[in-house]
Amino acid sequence: MNILVIGSGGREHALCWKIKQSPLVKKLYCAPGNGGISEIAECVDIGVNDYEKLLRFAQQNRIDLTVVGPEAPLVDGIVDLFEKEGLQIFGPGRAPAQLEGSKIFAKEFMYEYNIPTAPFRTFDDINEVGLFLTKVQFPIVIKADGLAAGKGVFICNDIKDANEALDQIMEKKIFKDAGNEIVVEECLFGEELSILAVSDGSRYVMMQSSQDHKRIFDDDLGPNTGGMGAYSPAPLASRQLMREVEASIIEPTIKGMEMEGTPFKGVLYAGLMVTKEGPFVLEYNVRFGDPEIQAILPRMKTDIVILMLACCQKRLGEVKMDWDDRSCVCIVMSSGGYPGKYEKGMEITGLEALDEKETMVFHAGTKKEKEKIVTSGGRVLGVTGLGASIEDAIKHTYTQVEKIKFDHCFFRRDIGAKALKVNDILNRR
Ligand code: AMP
Ligand code: GLY
Repeated sequence: MNILVIGSGGREHALCWKIKQSPLVKKLYCAPGNGGISEIAECVDIGVNDYEKLLRFAQQNRIDLTVVGPEAPLVDGIVDLFEKEGLQIFGPGRAPAQLEGSKIFAKEFMYEYNIPTAPFRTFDDINEVGLFLTKVQFPIVIKADGLAAGKGVFICNDIKDANEALDQIMEKKIFKDAGNEIVVEECLFGEELSILAVSDGSRYVMMQSSQDHKRIFDDDLGPNTGGMGAYSPAPLASRQLMREVEASIIEPTIKGMEMEGTPFKGVLYAGLMVTKEGPFVLEYNVRFGDPEIQAILPRMKTDIVILMLACCQKRLGEVKMDWDDRSCVCIVMSSGGYPGKYEKGMEITGLEALDEKETMVFHAGTKKEKEKIVTSGGRVLGVTGLGASIEDAIKHTYTQVEKIKFDHCFFRRDIGAKALKVNDILNRR
């Protein structure tokens, strides 16, 4: 088979790495890819939003399966475009992708199907929100309705924060039309958890649990990023909690989407807050989480191509998921300054010195310059390691990270530390 992966980050490198292991694959392409991906797939110079060009490429190169990494093409309807031409593509169509594309759509859907989420109100008029905010209890959460590259959420501790958020979203329009409408919701307290499931539209299989580290600095301080590291499994996700999430969130979401006439095919990612009252949905994503998937895929024994084809062909019932019991940790090495301004073009050294057996290095922001690999983005590498326990995986992976060098490199030193404290957390519940 010929397979095309769309995207250029650590997620897409991890996907290419896993897809490449399938005996079904003859040729693997990635558009546009990056320095690391170019070692295992043929990179094609087409942007992730150039849908007509991607379609022509798939047709001309007899692509049997296209896998979409990021959310924007899904929300824009790339799946509908490919399927209209009879091509197989893994991911939800434009309508079900609204679960990520519009927070208002997602909240109203959850309300309708009784899926636990924070109580909310929606607004399109800044004066109306202003009035509402005089009557609420802080902290409160304000969210832009549309896609905002993970930056559209403001946790407001007081009215001053809230007015600032409204000014940014609705007056200054920093997210353009994505901020035409907003959600104001109650602030939830607890532990965050990412639970992913893969669906063919009516059936689904659960992925192993994982936990992201969204803030830039240790101890979850500083601004939000795309994710500075992840681990899988998350000890917080006990069997009982997983069953609860499946029954109260994943199943009703897949069934609800089917009932709406917009069956959800692809990856359903539920970003959860596990509170004293149980798990609540903070947000849905409609694609693999990054870096979460970098910590999940090394543990997946099932052939991912078979899994994705079964989704496209509505025969997910035939697939049995098989997992490695070991723990996996992904530590993101970033360019100093990220998520703000940072420099590019730094040479990366030390990659050849890694213990290859239990370490994968997924490239996120790199490119090849002659024989050198240089930095080309904020998140640069996802150094990922396996271990018999989460403790072993953390130790092993940090030893590998220390061998990799580039100027102004920054990484968190506490990835996975939360997992070690989980017993305390569980005792507090
Ligand atoms: P989202 O894009 O909706 O996942 O929001 C990004 C981050 O904002 C989440 O990972 C949480 O840390 C935080 N967040 C979102 N909604 C809430 C909420 N209702 N209560 C507390 N924190 C929230
Ligand atoms: N790591 C968070 C995300 O993929 O949205």
